[in-house]
Amino acid sequence: MDAIRLCGGAALEGRIPIAGAKNACLTLMPATLLSEEPLTLTNAPRLADIRTMAELLESLGVEVSMLQDGRVLALSSLSLDSTRADYEIVRKMRASVLVLGPLLARAGHAEVSLPGGCAIGARPVDLHQMAMERLGAELELRDGYLHAKAPRGLRGAVIDFPMVSVGATENALMAATLARGTTVIRNAAREPEIADLARCLRRMGAQIEGEGSAEITIEGVDRLSGATHPVVADRIELGTYMLAPAIAGGEVECLGGRLDLIESFADKLMEAGVDVVQTQSGVKVSRRNGRVRAVDVLTAPYPGFPTDLQAQMMALMCTAEGVSVLEERIFENRFMHAPELMRMGARIEVHGGTATVTGVERLRGAPVMATDLRASVSLILAGLAAEGETMVNRVYHLDRGYESVEQKLRACGATIERVKSE
Ligand code: EPZ
Repeated sequence: MDAIRLCGGAALEGRIPIAGAKNACLTLMPATLLSEEPLTLTNAPRLADIRTMAELLESLGVEVSMLQDGRVLALSSLSLDSTRADYEIVRKMRASVLVLGPLLARAGHAEVSLPGGCAIGARPVDLHQMAMERLGAELELRDGYLHAKAPRGLRGAVIDFPMVSVGATENALMAATLARGTTVIRNAAREPEIADLARCLRRMGAQIEGEGSAEITIEGVDRLSGATHPVVADRIELGTYMLAPAIAGGEVECLGGRLDLIESFADKLMEAGVDVVQTQSGVKVSRRNGRVRAVDVLTAPYPGFPTDLQAQMMALMCTAEGVSVLEERIFENRFMHAPELMRMGARIEVHGGTATVTGVERLRGAPVMATDLRASVSLILAGLAAEGETMVNRVYHLDRGYESVEQKLRACGATIERVKSE
Protein backbone atom coordinates (compact mmCIF):
# COMPACT_ATOMS: atom_id res chain seq x y z
CA MET A 1 0.00 0.00 0.00
CA ASP A 2 1.28 3.47 -0.83
CA ALA A 3 2.27 6.01 1.77
CA ILE A 4 2.90 9.74 1.64
CA ARG A 5 6.14 11.03 3.14
CA LEU A 6 6.49 14.73 3.92
CA CYS A 7 8.88 17.04 5.73
CA GLY A 8 7.16 20.03 7.29
CA GLY A 9 8.29 23.56 7.95
CA ALA A 10 8.28 25.27 4.55
CA ALA A 11 5.82 28.10 3.88
CA LEU A 12 3.80 27.50 0.69
CA GLU A 13 3.66 29.75 -2.34
CA GLY A 14 1.82 28.95 -5.56
CA ARG A 15 -1.44 27.96 -7.23
CA ILE A 16 -3.55 24.82 -6.87
CA PRO A 17 -6.24 23.87 -9.43
CA ILE A 18 -9.54 22.81 -7.84
CA ALA A 19 -11.27 19.88 -9.59
CA GLY A 20 -14.94 19.09 -10.10
CA ALA A 21 -16.77 17.97 -6.97
CA LYS A 22 -16.57 14.26 -6.08
CA ASN A 23 -19.90 14.44 -4.23
CA ALA A 24 -21.61 16.15 -7.14
CA CYS A 25 -20.21 13.72 -9.72
CA LEU A 26 -21.29 10.71 -7.64
CA THR A 27 -24.93 11.78 -7.86
CA LEU A 28 -24.78 13.14 -11.42
CA MET A 29 -23.51 9.84 -12.82
CA PRO A 30 -26.53 7.73 -11.70
CA ALA A 31 -28.81 10.38 -13.28
CA THR A 32 -27.92 8.81 -16.64
CA LEU A 33 -30.22 5.92 -15.68
CA LEU A 34 -33.20 8.31 -15.95
CA SER A 35 -32.86 8.68 -19.72
CA GLU A 36 -32.11 6.48 -22.72
CA GLU A 37 -30.20 9.37 -24.26
CA PRO A 38 -26.52 10.10 -23.54
CA LEU A 39 -25.45 12.19 -20.56
CA THR A 40 -22.03 13.87 -20.78
CA LEU A 41 -20.36 15.27 -17.66
CA THR A 42 -17.46 17.68 -18.08
CA ASN A 43 -14.99 18.93 -15.43
CA ALA A 44 -15.21 15.47 -13.84
CA PRO A 45 -12.64 14.71 -11.10
CA ARG A 46 -10.23 11.78 -11.65
CA LEU A 47 -10.77 9.77 -8.48
CA ALA A 48 -11.08 6.19 -7.34
CA ASP A 49 -14.68 6.76 -6.24
CA ILE A 50 -15.63 7.95 -9.73
CA ARG A 51 -14.11 4.80 -11.22
CA THR A 52 -16.07 2.71 -8.70
CA MET A 53 -19.33 4.42 -9.68
CA ALA A 54 -18.47 3.83 -13.35
CA GLU A 55 -17.91 0.14 -12.55
CA LEU A 56 -21.29 -0.04 -10.81
CA LEU A 57 -23.13 1.64 -13.70
CA GLU A 58 -21.41 -0.63 -16.22
CA SER A 59 -22.59 -3.65 -14.19
CA LEU A 60 -26.14 -2.38 -14.84
CA GLY A 61 -25.53 -2.09 -18.59
CA VAL A 62 -24.58 1.58 -18.83
CA GLU A 63 -21.84 2.43 -21.34
CA VAL A 64 -19.27 4.66 -19.63
CA SER A 65 -16.47 6.33 -21.61
CA MET A 66 -13.81 8.31 -19.79
CA LEU A 67 -12.59 10.89 -22.30
CA GLN A 68 -9.92 13.59 -22.13
CA ASP A 69 -7.93 11.70 -19.54
CA GLY A 70 -11.01 11.18 -17.36
CA ARG A 71 -12.11 14.82 -17.31
CA VAL A 72 -15.16 14.04 -19.47
CA LEU A 73 -17.54 11.17 -18.70
CA ALA A 74 -19.78 10.07 -21.58
CA LEU A 75 -22.60 7.91 -20.17
CA SER A 76 -25.27 6.06 -22.13
CA SER A 77 -27.94 3.82 -20.64
CA LEU A 78 -29.84 3.06 -23.84
CA SER A 79 -30.70 -0.36 -22.44
CA LEU A 80 -30.20 -1.79 -18.96
CA ASP A 81 -28.97 -5.37 -18.45
CA SER A 82 -29.57 -5.44 -14.73
CA THR A 83 -31.11 -3.49 -11.86
CA ARG A 84 -28.98 -5.17 -9.17
CA ALA A 85 -26.24 -3.17 -7.43
CA ASP A 86 -24.01 -5.92 -6.14
CA TYR A 87 -22.48 -5.97 -2.64
CA GLU A 88 -18.96 -6.46 -4.08
CA ILE A 89 -19.13 -2.96 -5.58
CA VAL A 90 -21.44 -1.24 -3.09
CA ARG A 91 -19.27 -2.18 -0.11
CA LYS A 92 -16.45 -0.14 -1.65
CA MET A 93 -18.51 3.01 -1.81
CA ARG A 94 -21.68 4.07 0.02
CA ALA A 95 -22.74 6.46 -2.69
CA SER A 96 -23.73 3.36 -4.71
CA VAL A 97 -27.11 3.64 -2.98
CA LEU A 98 -27.76 6.61 -5.33
CA VAL A 99 -28.75 4.21 -8.12
CA LEU A 100 -31.86 3.23 -6.12
CA GLY A 101 -34.09 6.18 -7.05
CA PRO A 102 -33.10 6.31 -10.73
CA LEU A 103 -33.54 2.53 -11.19
CA LEU A 104 -37.00 2.61 -9.61
CA ALA A 105 -38.00 5.56 -11.78
CA ARG A 106 -36.61 4.01 -14.98
CA ALA A 107 -37.26 0.30 -14.59
CA GLY A 108 -39.78 0.03 -11.76
CA HIS A 109 -37.55 -2.29 -9.73
CA ALA A 110 -34.10 -2.42 -8.12
CA GLU A 111 -32.01 -4.61 -5.83
CA VAL A 112 -29.41 -2.52 -4.05
CA SER A 113 -27.01 -4.01 -1.55
CA LEU A 114 -26.92 -2.25 1.79
CA PRO A 115 -23.67 -0.31 1.83
CA GLY A 116 -22.67 -1.46 5.27
CA GLY A 117 -21.06 0.90 7.72
CA CYS A 118 -17.82 2.72 7.19
CA ALA A 119 -15.18 4.18 9.46
CA ILE A 120 -17.20 7.29 10.29
CA GLY A 121 -20.50 5.68 11.19
CA ALA A 122 -23.27 3.15 10.68
CA ARG A 123 -24.55 5.06 7.64
CA PRO A 124 -28.16 3.72 7.59
CA VAL A 125 -30.38 4.16 4.52
CA ASP A 126 -33.77 4.30 6.27
CA LEU A 127 -34.46 7.82 4.91
CA HIS A 128 -33.78 6.66 1.35
CA GLN A 129 -36.24 3.80 1.94
CA MET A 130 -38.86 6.14 3.42
CA ALA A 131 -38.62 8.50 0.43
CA MET A 132 -39.07 5.70 -2.10
CA GLU A 133 -42.06 4.31 -0.17
CA ARG A 134 -43.64 7.78 -0.13
CA LEU A 135 -43.31 7.77 -3.93
CA GLY A 136 -45.26 4.50 -4.09
CA ALA A 137 -42.50 1.90 -4.16
CA GLU A 138 -42.53 -1.25 -2.01
CA LEU A 139 -39.20 -2.03 -0.36
CA GLU A 140 -38.14 -5.12 1.53
CA LEU A 141 -34.82 -5.65 3.30
CA ARG A 142 -33.66 -9.23 2.64
CA ASP A 143 -30.23 -10.90 2.66
CA GLY A 144 -28.42 -7.58 2.95
CA TYR A 145 -30.20 -6.12 -0.08
CA LEU A 146 -32.95 -3.56 -0.44
CA HIS A 147 -35.47 -5.20 -2.81
CA ALA A 148 -37.56 -2.40 -4.31
CA LYS A 149 -40.38 -2.45 -6.81
CA ALA A 150 -42.91 0.01 -8.16
CA PRO A 151 -45.01 -2.08 -10.57
CA ARG A 152 -47.43 0.78 -11.16
CA GLY A 153 -44.66 3.36 -11.51
CA LEU A 154 -43.88 6.14 -9.03
CA ARG A 155 -46.42 8.79 -8.08
CA GLY A 156 -45.72 12.27 -6.73
CA ALA A 157 -45.96 12.76 -2.96
CA VAL A 158 -44.96 15.00 -0.07
CA ILE A 159 -41.68 13.68 1.40
CA ASP A 160 -41.07 15.18 4.82
CA PHE A 161 -37.56 14.24 6.01
CA PRO A 162 -37.28 14.03 9.83
CA MET A 163 -33.59 14.92 9.48
CA VAL A 164 -31.48 16.35 6.69
CA SER A 165 -29.89 13.72 4.45
CA VAL A 166 -27.86 14.64 1.36
CA GLY A 167 -28.09 11.22 -0.27
CA ALA A 168 -31.76 10.63 0.53
CA THR A 169 -32.60 14.08 -0.89
CA GLU A 170 -30.67 13.19 -4.06
CA ASN A 171 -32.43 9.82 -4.44
CA ALA A 172 -35.84 11.44 -3.89
CA LEU A 173 -35.08 14.28 -6.33
CA MET A 174 -33.97 11.93 -9.10
CA ALA A 175 -36.88 9.51 -8.64
CA ALA A 176 -39.47 12.30 -8.50
CA THR A 177 -38.50 13.65 -11.94
CA LEU A 178 -40.29 10.70 -13.58
CA ALA A 179 -43.05 10.18 -10.99
CA ARG A 180 -46.65 10.91 -12.03
CA GLY A 181 -47.70 14.25 -10.52
CA THR A 182 -46.14 16.66 -8.07
CA THR A 183 -43.54 15.84 -5.40
CA VAL A 184 -42.60 18.20 -2.58
CA ILE A 185 -39.43 17.38 -0.62
CA ARG A 186 -39.46 19.07 2.79
CA ASN A 187 -36.41 19.47 5.07
CA ALA A 188 -34.38 18.81 1.93
CA ALA A 189 -30.59 19.02 2.10
CA ARG A 190 -29.34 22.34 0.71
CA GLU A 191 -25.78 21.35 -0.30
CA PRO A 192 -24.44 22.94 -3.54
CA GLU A 193 -24.07 19.44 -4.98
CA ILE A 194 -27.86 19.06 -4.85
CA ALA A 195 -28.33 22.37 -6.66
CA ASP A 196 -25.85 21.08 -9.25
CA LEU A 197 -27.85 17.86 -9.66
CA ALA A 198 -31.06 19.89 -10.10
CA ARG A 199 -29.39 22.04 -12.78
CA CYS A 200 -28.34 18.90 -14.66
CA LEU A 201 -31.79 17.28 -14.36
CA ARG A 202 -33.39 20.52 -15.62
CA ARG A 203 -31.07 20.39 -18.64
CA MET A 204 -32.46 16.87 -19.18
CA GLY A 205 -36.02 18.27 -19.17
CA ALA A 206 -36.98 17.84 -15.52
CA GLN A 207 -39.26 20.41 -13.89
CA ILE A 208 -37.72 21.37 -10.54
CA GLU A 209 -38.02 24.42 -8.30
CA GLY A 210 -36.49 25.36 -4.97
CA GLU A 211 -33.20 23.44 -5.02
CA GLY A 212 -30.78 24.93 -2.49
CA SER A 213 -33.68 25.69 -0.16
CA ALA A 214 -35.26 23.33 2.37
CA GLU A 215 -38.27 22.72 0.09
CA ILE A 216 -37.92 21.35 -3.45
CA THR A 217 -40.94 20.91 -5.76
CA ILE A 218 -40.79 18.55 -8.74
CA GLU A 219 -43.44 18.16 -11.49
CA GLY A 220 -42.98 14.65 -12.90
CA VAL A 221 -42.53 14.32 -16.68
CA ASP A 222 -42.94 11.31 -18.97
CA ARG A 223 -39.34 11.11 -20.09
CA LEU A 224 -36.00 12.89 -19.83
CA SER A 225 -33.58 13.64 -22.64
CA GLY A 226 -29.78 13.58 -22.69
CA ALA A 227 -27.64 16.57 -21.72
CA THR A 228 -24.12 17.87 -21.27
CA HIS A 229 -23.36 19.28 -17.81
CA PRO A 230 -20.24 20.69 -16.11
CA VAL A 231 -19.60 19.29 -12.62
CA VAL A 232 -19.55 22.09 -10.03
CA ALA A 233 -16.19 22.91 -8.35
CA ASP A 234 -15.34 20.80 -5.28
CA ARG A 235 -15.91 22.98 -2.20
CA ILE A 236 -14.39 20.35 0.10
CA GLU A 237 -11.19 20.09 -1.94
CA LEU A 238 -11.16 23.90 -1.97
CA GLY A 239 -11.49 24.13 1.80
CA THR A 240 -8.82 21.48 2.25
CA TYR A 241 -6.26 23.36 0.16
CA MET A 242 -7.19 26.70 1.74
CA LEU A 243 -5.98 25.17 4.99
CA ALA A 244 -2.54 24.37 3.55
CA PRO A 245 -1.16 27.97 3.66
CA ALA A 246 -3.17 28.56 6.83
CA ILE A 247 -1.27 25.79 8.65
CA ALA A 248 2.11 26.04 6.89
CA GLY A 249 2.22 29.80 6.29
CA GLY A 250 2.63 31.54 2.93
CA GLU A 251 0.12 32.29 0.18
CA VAL A 252 -1.76 29.92 -2.16
CA GLU A 253 -4.35 30.65 -4.85
CA CYS A 254 -6.93 27.87 -5.32
CA LEU A 255 -7.83 28.13 -9.01
CA GLY A 256 -11.50 27.67 -9.88
CA GLY A 257 -12.47 27.84 -6.21
CA ARG A 258 -15.74 29.56 -5.35
CA LEU A 259 -15.93 31.22 -1.94
CA ASP A 260 -19.74 31.41 -2.14
CA LEU A 261 -19.87 27.60 -1.78
CA ILE A 262 -18.10 27.56 1.61
CA GLU A 263 -19.00 30.80 3.36
CA SER A 264 -19.32 29.31 6.86
CA PHE A 265 -15.91 27.63 6.55
CA ALA A 266 -14.25 30.75 5.12
CA ASP A 267 -15.75 32.87 7.93
CA LYS A 268 -14.15 30.54 10.51
CA LEU A 269 -10.80 30.72 8.73
CA MET A 270 -10.92 34.53 8.75
CA GLU A 271 -12.00 34.51 12.43
CA ALA A 272 -8.81 32.51 13.07
CA GLY A 273 -6.75 35.27 11.47
CA VAL A 274 -6.22 33.87 7.97
CA ASP A 275 -6.57 36.21 4.97
CA VAL A 276 -9.11 34.91 2.41
CA VAL A 277 -10.15 36.71 -0.78
CA GLN A 278 -12.04 35.74 -3.95
CA THR A 279 -10.01 36.66 -7.04
CA GLN A 280 -10.93 36.49 -10.73
CA SER A 281 -9.27 33.08 -11.01
CA GLY A 282 -10.11 31.53 -7.66
CA VAL A 283 -9.63 31.95 -3.91
CA LYS A 284 -6.40 33.39 -2.53
CA VAL A 285 -5.42 32.44 1.03
CA SER A 286 -2.46 33.74 3.04
CA ARG A 287 -1.08 33.63 6.54
CA ARG A 288 2.03 35.67 6.90
CA ASN A 289 2.77 36.31 10.54
CA GLY A 290 2.26 34.45 13.78
CA ARG A 291 0.03 31.58 14.76
CA VAL A 292 -3.66 31.44 13.95
CA ARG A 293 -6.16 32.00 16.71
CA ALA A 294 -8.23 29.11 18.14
CA VAL A 295 -11.89 29.16 17.04
CA ASP A 296 -14.82 26.89 17.89
CA VAL A 297 -16.44 24.73 15.19
CA LEU A 298 -19.87 23.11 15.04
CA THR A 299 -20.59 20.92 12.01
CA ALA A 300 -24.07 21.22 10.50
CA PRO A 301 -25.91 20.60 7.24
CA TYR A 302 -25.29 23.23 4.56
CA PRO A 303 -24.97 26.20 4.88
CA GLY A 304 -23.40 25.29 8.23
CA PHE A 305 -19.76 24.27 8.71
CA PRO A 306 -19.21 21.16 6.51
CA THR A 307 -18.56 17.92 8.39
CA ASP A 308 -16.22 17.01 5.51
CA LEU A 309 -13.88 19.83 6.59
CA GLN A 310 -13.93 19.09 10.35
CA ALA A 311 -10.86 16.83 10.36
CA GLN A 312 -8.87 19.29 8.28
CA MET A 313 -9.87 22.23 10.52
CA MET A 314 -8.85 20.23 13.59
CA ALA A 315 -5.34 19.93 12.15
CA LEU A 316 -5.14 23.73 11.94
CA MET A 317 -6.51 24.16 15.46
CA CYS A 318 -3.75 21.84 16.76
CA THR A 319 -1.27 24.63 15.94
CA ALA A 320 -3.50 27.57 16.96
CA GLU A 321 -3.03 29.93 19.88
CA GLY A 322 -5.66 28.99 22.49
CA VAL A 323 -8.29 26.30 22.97
CA SER A 324 -10.73 25.23 20.23
CA VAL A 325 -13.88 23.15 20.74
CA LEU A 326 -14.99 21.16 17.70
CA GLU A 327 -18.45 19.57 17.79
CA GLU A 328 -19.20 16.88 15.19
CA ARG A 329 -22.98 16.79 14.90
CA ILE A 330 -23.42 14.85 11.61
CA PHE A 331 -21.57 11.55 12.07
CA GLU A 332 -21.18 9.50 15.22
CA ASN A 333 -17.53 8.55 14.82
CA ARG A 334 -15.63 11.19 12.91
CA PHE A 335 -12.68 11.90 15.23
CA MET A 336 -10.39 9.03 14.24
CA HIS A 337 -7.80 11.53 13.06
CA ALA A 338 -7.48 12.78 16.68
CA PRO A 339 -5.32 9.91 18.05
CA GLU A 340 -3.11 10.15 14.95
CA LEU A 341 -2.70 13.92 15.40
CA MET A 342 -1.83 13.27 19.06
CA ARG A 343 1.05 11.07 17.87
CA MET A 344 2.36 14.26 16.29
CA GLY A 345 2.22 16.09 19.61
CA ALA A 346 -1.28 17.55 19.36
CA ARG A 347 -3.22 18.06 22.60
CA ILE A 348 -6.78 16.81 22.03
CA GLU A 349 -9.46 15.52 24.38
CA VAL A 350 -12.39 13.70 22.81
CA HIS A 351 -15.66 13.19 24.67
CA GLY A 352 -18.41 11.77 22.45
CA GLY A 353 -19.06 14.23 19.66
CA THR A 354 -16.88 16.96 21.13
CA ALA A 355 -13.11 17.41 20.70
CA THR A 356 -11.26 20.04 22.73
CA VAL A 357 -7.96 21.07 21.15
CA THR A 358 -5.28 23.04 22.98
CA GLY A 359 -2.98 24.47 20.33
CA VAL A 360 0.78 23.83 20.51
CA GLU A 361 3.67 25.86 19.06
CA ARG A 362 4.93 23.07 16.82
CA LEU A 363 3.78 19.59 15.89
CA ARG A 364 6.39 16.88 15.42
CA GLY A 365 6.52 14.58 12.40
CA ALA A 366 5.65 10.91 13.03
CA PRO A 367 4.42 7.79 11.22
CA VAL A 368 0.58 7.99 11.24
CA MET A 369 -2.30 5.97 9.86
CA ALA A 370 -5.04 7.22 7.53
CA THR A 371 -8.43 5.87 8.59
CA ASP A 372 -10.86 7.54 6.21
CA LEU A 373 -10.85 10.00 3.35
CA ARG A 374 -10.91 13.31 5.20
CA ALA A 375 -8.83 12.09 8.16
CA SER A 376 -6.06 11.19 5.68
CA VAL A 377 -5.77 14.69 4.33
CA SER A 378 -5.95 16.19 7.82
CA LEU A 379 -2.77 14.26 8.65
CA ILE A 380 -1.08 15.59 5.53
CA LEU A 381 -1.99 19.15 6.51
CA ALA A 382 -0.53 18.53 9.98
CA GLY A 383 2.60 17.10 8.37
CA LEU A 384 3.06 20.34 6.39
CA ALA A 385 3.44 22.24 9.65
CA ALA A 386 5.23 19.58 11.71
CA GLU A 387 8.94 19.55 12.44
CA GLY A 388 10.67 16.61 10.75
CA GLU A 389 9.30 13.75 8.72
CA THR A 390 5.68 12.49 8.69
CA MET A 391 4.72 9.26 6.97
CA VAL A 392 1.00 8.87 6.29
CA ASN A 393 0.18 5.20 5.66
CA ARG A 394 -2.84 3.63 3.90
CA VAL A 395 -3.29 6.54 1.52
CA TYR A 396 -5.71 4.56 -0.65
CA HIS A 397 -8.30 6.41 1.45
CA LEU A 398 -6.86 9.64 0.09
CA ASP A 399 -7.07 8.60 -3.55
CA ARG A 400 -10.82 8.12 -3.21
CA GLY A 401 -11.36 11.85 -2.92
CA TYR A 402 -8.24 13.82 -3.83
CA GLU A 403 -6.47 13.94 -7.18
CA SER A 404 -2.65 13.85 -6.92
CA VAL A 405 -2.34 15.61 -3.57
CA GLU A 406 1.43 15.31 -3.55
CA GLN A 407 1.81 16.98 -6.96
CA LYS A 408 -0.50 19.85 -6.03
CA LEU A 409 1.29 20.57 -2.75
CA ARG A 410 4.81 20.00 -4.15
CA ALA A 411 4.03 22.62 -6.82
CA CYS A 412 3.63 25.10 -3.94
CA GLY A 413 6.95 24.22 -2.33
CA ALA A 414 6.01 21.39 0.02
CA THR A 415 8.50 18.56 0.53
CA ILE A 416 6.14 15.67 -0.13
CA GLU A 417 6.29 12.42 -2.09
CA ARG A 418 4.38 9.19 -2.53
CA VAL A 419 6.34 6.09 -1.54
CA LYS A 420 5.55 2.46 -2.06
CA SER A 421 5.39 0.96 1.38
CA GLU A 422 6.18 -2.76 1.74
C1 EPZ B 1 -22.98 12.80 1.88
O1 EPZ B 1 -23.08 11.53 2.50
C2 EPZ B 1 -21.53 12.92 1.44
N1 EPZ B 1 -21.21 11.84 0.50
C3 EPZ B 1 -20.62 12.83 2.67
O2 EPZ B 1 -19.29 13.03 2.23
C4 EPZ B 1 -21.00 13.97 3.61
O3 EPZ B 1 -20.20 13.86 4.78
C5 EPZ B 1 -22.48 13.85 3.98
O4 EPZ B 1 -23.29 13.86 2.78
C6 EPZ B 1 -22.94 14.98 4.88
O5 EPZ B 1 -22.70 16.21 4.24
C7 EPZ B 1 -21.59 11.97 -0.79
O6 EPZ B 1 -22.21 12.94 -1.18
C8 EPZ B 1 -21.22 10.85 -1.70
P1 EPZ B 1 -26.27 12.10 4.82
P2 EPZ B 1 -24.56 10.95 2.88
O7 EPZ B 1 -27.30 11.18 4.28
O8 EPZ B 1 -25.53 11.35 1.83
C9 EPZ B 1 -27.73 9.90 8.74
C10 EPZ B 1 -17.01 12.53 2.01
O9 EPZ B 1 -16.10 12.59 2.83
N2 EPZ B 1 -28.64 9.16 7.83
O10 EPZ B 1 -26.47 13.58 4.69
O11 EPZ B 1 -24.41 9.52 3.20
C11 EPZ B 1 -26.28 9.55 8.49
O12 EPZ B 1 -25.90 8.39 9.19
C12 EPZ B 1 -18.35 11.95 2.40
O13 EPZ B 1 -16.97 12.97 0.83
C13 EPZ B 1 -29.62 8.36 8.37
O14 EPZ B 1 -29.77 8.25 9.59
O15 EPZ B 1 -24.85 11.76 4.22
C14 EPZ B 1 -25.57 10.77 9.00
O16 EPZ B 1 -25.43 10.68 10.40
C15 EPZ B 1 -18.33 11.38 3.81
N3 EPZ B 1 -30.45 7.66 7.54
C16 EPZ B 1 -26.54 11.92 8.65
O17 EPZ B 1 -27.81 11.30 8.43
C17 EPZ B 1 -30.34 7.75 6.17
O18 EPZ B 1 -31.14 7.12 5.45
C18 EPZ B 1 -26.17 12.67 7.39
O19 EPZ B 1 -26.02 11.72 6.35
C19 EPZ B 1 -29.32 8.58 5.63
C20 EPZ B 1 -28.49 9.27 6.48
